[in-house]
Amino acid sequence: MGEPFYITTAISYPNGKPHIGHAYEAIAADVIARFQRAMGRDVRFQTGTDEHGLKMMQKARDLGITPKQLSDEMSSHFIAMCDELNVSYDVFLRTTEDRHHAASQELWRRLEANGDLYLDRYEGWYSVRDEAFYDESELVAGERGEKLSPQGTPVEWTVEESWFFRLSKYTEPLLQLYNGQPQFIQPDGRRNEVMRFVEGGLRDLSVSRTSFDWGVKVPGSDGHVMYVWVDALTNYLTGLGFPDENGDFARYWPANLHLIGKDIVRFHAVYWPAILMSAGLAVPAQVFGHGFLLNRGQKESKSLGNVTDPLELAERFGVDPLRYFLMREVAFGQDGSYSPEAIVTRCNAELANSYGNLVQRVLSMIFKNMHGELEAFPSIAADDALLAMVFAACREELPCAFAELNFSGGIDAWMRAVFACNAYVDEQAPWTLRKTDPDRMKAVLLTLFMAIRDLTIAISPVVPSSAAKVLDQIGIPLEERGFPALTDADWFMARVATGEKLGQPTPAFPRLELPEDATAA
Ligand code: MF3
Repeated sequence: MGEPFYITTAISYPNGKPHIGHAYEAIAADVIARFQRAMGRDVRFQTGTDEHGLKMMQKARDLGITPKQLSDEMSSHFIAMCDELNVSYDVFLRTTEDRHHAASQELWRRLEANGDLYLDRYEGWYSVRDEAFYDESELVAGERGEKLSPQGTPVEWTVEESWFFRLSKYTEPLLQLYNGQPQFIQPDGRRNEVMRFVEGGLRDLSVSRTSFDWGVKVPGSDGHVMYVWVDALTNYLTGLGFPDENGDFARYWPANLHLIGKDIVRFHAVYWPAILMSAGLAVPAQVFGHGFLLNRGQKESKSLGNVTDPLELAERFGVDPLRYFLMREVAFGQDGSYSPEAIVTRCNAELANSYGNLVQRVLSMIFKNMHGELEAFPSIAADDALLAMVFAACREELPCAFAELNFSGGIDAWMRAVFACNAYVDEQAPWTLRKTDPDRMKAVLLTLFMAIRDLTIAISPVVPSSAAKVLDQIGIPLEERGFPALTDADWFMARVATGEKLGQPTPAFPRLELPEDATAA
């Protein structure tokens, strides 16, 4: 078994249906999970829903149902979204599960045993939308002079008895963590923000609520439920079987990567490691805060009426084109923008016209002009140069970039290799060679066949089902579809030795059409 790799997404509040931001994060995490599996790692991939807190309670009240009904109904949409988008999670965790209550309570007891919890009175600002406490100094003024959180959400003055976590005690240990483990928070811009925040000194954190009861009960303290973020963050442990520290927990903790949105970096890069330190547990290797996805440059909101259902996009354009677009178009870590036109333009130019067309042309020519038969062939310098270039892109450049979550850079290297293949087709003109030099035509087509296999394996994490379709068509066994297989110099002869012929290919990357409503706009 390979080295373990534990990756998580943030768990979403199921107070409505999933939007494009949820899809974006789930897809990115899935690309990482599939990539690491293809690199030979033993991947554990967890996602889920964050079902407690005031926000869920208020939404349920508005709808006239119980929070439990709301979360049962809505979490099913998040599960369906993951399944629909081909997100290969191992665990979908819901925080209303009994095992999660047990794990959160055990974590609480450890903080308490370590002397890090005390009872006091909380007086301050709270944003239900962010489920976050804010200092007066952090607030900004709204259009009508009202106070808003730094995220622009309404805040309310809250006074209640509360348990506090001695976060202040962890100021120094946290700074040591950031300095000793510089990759802990990424990208660097986010790391700098967090460091400035912590260097300013930390206040103790209110970690329980008494004004409502939709949450995990604080052990031994009637009337208190845990602050929703304390229980939410614990999901990363619950899914591994905590408090049992053997088995999955021993194997996969600490996490290699918590993938989250940039707006919740503080919870993951400040509160979470402090809680873990207090509980005597190891801290994760990395927290990566990705950017937001904008709809034609604008944030989606109900009031603007521009909220996109990600499943509708997937239905219109296909799951793989949507995944490709999101990973290719946006520099990961920064904000990005999408529109139907941009999806169609990008996918048609690259997936359909450049790569899909290359695959379809070459496999058709092998089928028609060589009866689908593969055989050994003498190569010339141009063939070797092309394969060396393709190999470097697929085995070195793309994996190095993906390992650093630089998806657009990795795909860019891959695309350059696709262009090189198309340039080679034009130069070698196999359709002319068919009459003038049939042996040379075979060498050209088989060189391209080898290139296609490498290119397809490399892009598989991004477009898993279309890539699998191509690999099925060219007869690559399931266990030879990972990156280590790319270094196997003998694979082609092994493929030839099977004697299996190529059939008539069917296109795996059709051209996309703009939906009528978008062309009319
Ligand atoms: N539900 C939170 C949000 O949507 C994220 C919770 S992530 C976890 O902002 F780490 F706490 F699980």
